[in-house]
Amino acid sequence: MSPWLEKEVSELGFDIQSSHSTGIIINATYNDCLLLNLYLRTAFCVLYLIDEFSCDSLENLYQLITNISWETIIPNDEILSVVSRANHPSVKNVMFVNQKVKDAIVDRIKEKTGKRPNAGHNKKNVVINVYWDKGYCWVYLNTSGQKLSNRTYRKIPLQAPLQETLAAGIIIASGYTGNVPFINPMCGSGTLAIEAALIALNKAPGLLHSNYGFKHTKFFDSDQWQKLRKEALLKSRKELAAPIVATDHNPEAIKAAKKNAQTAGVDHLIDFKVCNFIDTPIPDKPGTIIINPEYGLRMGEEKSLETVYSSIGNFFKTKCAGYTGHIFTGNLKLAKKVGLTAKTKIPFFNGDIECRLLSYEIYRGTRRTTFKKD
Ligand SMILES: C[S@@+](CC[C@H](N)C(=O)[O-])C[C@H]1O[C@@H](n2cnc3c(N)ncnc32)[C@H](O)[C@@H]1O
Repeated sequence: MSPWLEKEVSELGFDIQSSHSTGIIINATYNDCLLLNLYLRTAFCVLYLIDEFSCDSLENLYQLITNISWETIIPNDEILSVVSRANHPSVKNVMFVNQKVKDAIVDRIKEKTGKRPNAGHNKKNVVINVYWDKGYCWVYLNTSGQKLSNRTYRKIPLQAPLQETLAAGIIIASGYTGNVPFINPMCGSGTLAIEAALIALNKAPGLLHSNYGFKHTKFFDSDQWQKLRKEALLKSRKELAAPIVATDHNPEAIKAAKKNAQTAGVDHLIDFKVCNFIDTPIPDKPGTIIINPEYGLRMGEEKSLETVYSSIGNFFKTKCAGYTGHIFTGNLKLAKKVGLTAKTKIPFFNGDIECRLLSYEIYRGTRRTTFKKD
């Protein structure tokens, strides 16, 4: 997701210091974290660096964490969760690191203020992330708290729903910005159509959340947060510039997608229909189609999906001239059955499944070079 996160962060006006496969690093203030949590569509969480140091044992970790002036960061009536990742020979189980860090923070606050904050696991209050790789350790405030990928609108997930952040990344990678029709056959629980509507309305995804990690620290500036929220509300549009269509042959999927869209406040803007994907209504004005078919990763499923993938190719050719068609799949063998030459194949990970967003330019009339011969 880094390239799409990088794009979003740059568009918000920040310089990228470095980019990695699992995240990007920028120089920013605590108040900037409020803005990032509010606007970023592809970020999983926004971490604010508190300290970093060399560290060679669990005892050493305890000592170095106690040196941080936590009493100036965490109110002593808060609830604290610690999440850590450790790659160090002394660590057999990451739970020991969580416990050591929690003890160090709580002991420090008790010593300085006479009261200890509570520790919990629900990540609804203060969340500290610790990364300990060999001899070096980074300590962060997780300003998001709970995962930003859970936008809270998906009340009915159905099977194999895309994470909301991944769906947003796919849409951004497709180039869709809301000015052309967006068509999502096989919509399942509606994630792609809902994320497309939020993008088209320029609605900040963070407006859907109310609780964040950043609200629970002493750094939180409530006036600044209200100001940012108001600005975001003013920037969001009420109407779409072009239609969004979402279809699925399963009536239960459409019921769930409608409910989820309603929770996100965009149900009135999406044309839902129960139908086979080949009967999806396609507006005349060309636009973007994104299909996320099943990947057939279980035994015996792949064969039956071959016809589905080849029908997607036919559907693109016969019904979608002028559009850019995209298929998001974790099965490249099945993708070959589409029978068209992809203009781009953008890599993504869906959990640990390596996927591709395959994009096809579907020409009108005589320009047929894009279609593969059988
Ligand atoms: C992988 S799921 C899509 C998940 C979706 N992106 C989400 O986030 O919830 C694939 C969907 O395709 C639908 N589907 C499968 N074959 C179909 C067909 N021939 N016509 C229409 N929908 C179909 C299934 O009912 C399922 O909801």
